[in-house]
Amino acid sequence: MQGIEIVATARALPGRCVTNVELSQTVDTSDQWIRTRTGIGQRYRCEEETTAGMAIEAAKKAVEKSGIDKSEIGIVLVATTTPEYAFPSTACLVQQALGLEEDIMSFDINAACAGFLYGLGIVRSMLQNSRKTYALVIGSEHLSKIINYEDRGSCILFGDGAGAAIAKSSTKTFYHKGFTRGNKEFLYCNGLGSKENDFYIHMEGNQVFRFAVSAIEDGVEGILAEAGLTMNDIDYVVCHQANDRIISHVEKKYKDYSAVFYKNIEFYGNTSAASIPICLDEMGEKGLLKEGMRILMVGFGAGFTWSSCLLTW
Ligand code: ACO
Repeated sequence: MQGIEIVATARALPGRCVTNVELSQTVDTSDQWIRTRTGIGQRYRCEEETTAGMAIEAAKKAVEKSGIDKSEIGIVLVATTTPEYAFPSTACLVQQALGLEEDIMSFDINAACAGFLYGLGIVRSMLQNSRKTYALVIGSEHLSKIINYEDRGSCILFGDGAGAAIAKSSTKTFYHKGFTRGNKEFLYCNGLGSKENDFYIHMEGNQVFRFAVSAIEDGVEGILAEAGLTMNDIDYVVCHQANDRIISHVEKKYKDYSAVFYKNIEFYGNTSAASIPICLDEMGEKGLLKEGMRILMVGFGAGFTWSSCLLTW
């Protein structure tokens, strides 16, 4: 099976930025605690913005940057845990707002923070049999609407935002793996129809931390073994930005290798499915991504789900 490559990325963020200092005026915490335990300095929070609105903005920018003919987009996939509607899907709203043709498939997926990478795996397969050339893969999250601001152990972590990528089939080196370890004890949020009367993130931070470290290591090792490569063959590792300490922990394990672990959690917090495409877009903007580079990405989150992907730029 052919792989995929990414031809353009873009991101969209709410206008409102909330610093740790501001948060600590209403929550029993401090800038120092948050920075030391998570690496986060600020995050964005939706006011007028919505999951679909941010997805649309990021998608429009990505199409514009790519210069592609948008009638060649055959799939719109939005990874989100925070859609504003149970239906229609966020992807349908993107299709309409971008004026995409009707002979395409548009749908949302929920694989929590692994959603964007699950999405790349899904469109990789779908593009093999598509009459059209491109897939729009978006991660968009309005997590602030499911945050309990009385729970200082979780409310400091999350931020809102969206990232979009345009993918096409490619013969460039590409490997993808997805995993699931059914678990709802340590990280969950009640959904529509729940008998519970709260719709907030419930998280046992320590348990999630332990899972996250093992998921990254498993994702990295699994994809390297499948590709027959080592960390010396990798230019960048882009992990889901959940906590700086989680990434640093894994970074130490690979300290003798040349791969660079990209981190931007300081500026966005944990934006779940949006974090990896936001990283890619920022890296592109900084001129860090050059043709032929090998990027290893790992996403992990509620479910527990995790996924890793080796992509050639
Ligand atoms: N400010 C100040 N003190 C705090 C705060 C806060 N915001 N939060 C917790 N504390 C206190 C606790 O009450 C506790 O105090 P105590 O010792 O007096 O009881 C102490 O700090 C230590 O608490 P821990 O929970 O053990 O702190 P820890 O170092 O584990 O950090 C954290 C907590 C940041 C949540 C960490 O466990 C973590 O990042 N876990 C992973 C979370 C994650 O990645 N979640 C997202 C997954 S992605 C997805 O799918 C949505």
